[in-house]
Amino acid sequence: MNSVESQVMVILGARPREARHLLAILQEIQAAFRYLPKEALLIVAGALGISAARVFSVAGFYKALSFTPKGERLLTVCQGTACHLRGSGKLIESLQSRLGFKIGQSSSDGRLGLESVNCLGACALAPVATVDGAVHGHLTPEKALELI
Ligand code: FES
Repeated sequence: MNSVESQVMVILGARPREARHLLAILQEIQAAFRYLPKEALLIVAGALGISAARVFSVAGFYKALSFTPKGERLLTVCQGTACHLRGSGKLIESLQSRLGFKIGQSSSDGRLGLESVNCLGACALAPVATVDGAVHGHLTPEKALELI
């Protein structure tokens, strides 16, 4: 049994093997590997007795789940209306330019991921971003880069 198989078996062993637990299982696999290895998804499909197509469909639906590795740290910039009106577009352009990779991608060393979201619920602080889940407001590119 390889590393992926053994970790997935531990995750599967933590709850009943029922399809209703699919999302929770996928979230745990995402947390363990920082992405969803294809091999892991096939194991989950077999263990839960559901089609691989269903597992891949659920995995592809949620933005928090990824088929490619996410950065160890995650900068998520809000692109909601309030943040857009307060310059989140320019913030994202500047970050992409300075970091050398685009929204939805990670740095080549895997240490930082850059993502966007539609509203973080902190519109009064626009433009807003989170770093590893912590909310930061009134951001400029310089402030955002300092945070990471
Ligand atoms: S629009 Fe950005 S936090 Fe609401």
